[in-house]
Amino acid sequence: MHNQAHLYKKVASGQYQAGLNLIKHLQLSKNALVLDIGAGTGQLTYTMAQEILPHGQVVAIEPDQERISLAQQNSPKHINNIHWVIDDFLSFAKTTELSFDVAYSNYVFHWIKQQQLAVDAVYRLLKPGAKFGFCCVTGMPEVIKDISFATKNGHAIVKSLNFSFAEAWLSYFKNAGFRILQHYEVPDYVFADLDEVMQWWQATTHARFQVINLEQKQLSALQQKYSGKIHIYQKETLCFIAQK
Ligand SMILES: C[S@@+](CC[C@H](N)C(=O)[O-])C[C@H]1O[C@@H](n2cnc3c(N)ncnc32)[C@H](O)[C@@H]1O
Repeated sequence: MHNQAHLYKKVASGQYQAGLNLIKHLQLSKNALVLDIGAGTGQLTYTMAQEILPHGQVVAIEPDQERISLAQQNSPKHINNIHWVIDDFLSFAKTTELSFDVAYSNYVFHWIKQQQLAVDAVYRLLKPGAKFGFCCVTGMPEVIKDISFATKNGHAIVKSLNFSFAEAWLSYFKNAGFRILQHYEVPDYVFADLDEVMQWWQATTHARFQVINLEQKQLSALQQKYSGKIHIYQKETLCFIAQK
């Protein structure tokens, strides 16, 4: 069986670069208590934890057991300031009594159905004046639609994502009480070829999309349409820093 968390870690470099950028914009202070929502395989969590050693701490929330296990196994030895939580964010938010100096979420909120509730929950968990670094996807690039719809369960996969336009996100943040401090653009994800896009999409969808479900005829048609490097996601990504 494929280990999707390993595959995800290998091919998610565009997202990683955007995540580093988001961390840079947050300018973490050394004693911060940071909430990482949807930590995935943890590389960005380590970066934040490293930046705030030895007094700061990161609480990393991730519902995928396989990803969080990989994150824990690969955590560099000297980084001892991450508290890993296997949970869905809204369920964590209901029970925690912590108050955070910073919240961070890189490419996660389009997987969450109850988006206003989730933004409200982040607001509630932050101290007054605290910042929230937010990046999410607002739509699906054509190549992702094409590869998804070429499989039988393509519609179900696409429906499992909850894309909202930038305007909707801005109103969720405003309704919650946030002020938007700074918007910024991210670079495109660049994939070497269609195969790499498909591997990434398989890992990202936790294997609901599977390359082996494509018939040879469909695969050939897709390869003809998409030859060479593929650049996606710049215009479908929304990133900003908000403040409570
Ligand atoms: C595209 S990955 C991003 C991971 C990491 N932030 C990064 O940039 O590498 C999205 C992650 O959000 C997690 N996720 C999905 N729904 C979530 C929820 N309701 N609460 C917390 N995390 C969630 C997924 O399991 C996945 O690992």
